[in-house]
Amino acid sequence: MGVTQMKIVVTVVGFVLIFVSGFWLSKNEQPFNVVVLTIHKLLTVALIVYLVVVVLKIGKIAPLSRVELIACIVTSLLFLGAVASGGILSAVKTMPDFVRMLHKLLPALTFLSTAITFYLFVRRK
Ligand code: HEM
Repeated sequence: MGVTQMKIVVTVVGFVLIFVSGFWLSKNEQPFNVVVLTIHKLLTVALIVYLVVVVLKIGKIAPLSRVELIACIVTSLLFLGAVASGGILSAVKTMPDFVRMLHKLLPALTFLSTAITFYLFVRRK
């Protein structure tokens, strides 16, 4: 299996685990299961660190093109939005419905944007 394929597999597995733990959390109202919430957060941090390392390595091979850079920035902002909306959901007792909506929409967009960014990187070689 090529390096790029391996990176895609690790990323997809990371997202699947985050989504599965997220759906698990959504099944119950607050207070959330602390163990599942911690796993959900740790997986998020691990995936973000992994993706940053991947992008830095790819950027060393050849500098990012303008389109690749824009894709990375959009993906980072979506990740930030997903983390912020998730943080609010886990901290606030009475959950504002729109934040809950946001934390359904932003994770989906984050996954989509990451997929597009990877597609740009795969197309490189
Ligand atoms: C530290 C950051 C994060 C925190 C504190 C957090 C927290 C939470 C909480 C409390 C829930 C339950 C929400 C509910 O009951 O409606 C949830 C659900 C979920 N989270 Fe996160 N989250 C974080 C990051 C992420 C990220 C980065 C993703 C994906 C890119 C993600 C994907 C999901 C999904 C898919 C759900 C299920 C939403 C649904 O009901 O459809 N979370 N998260």
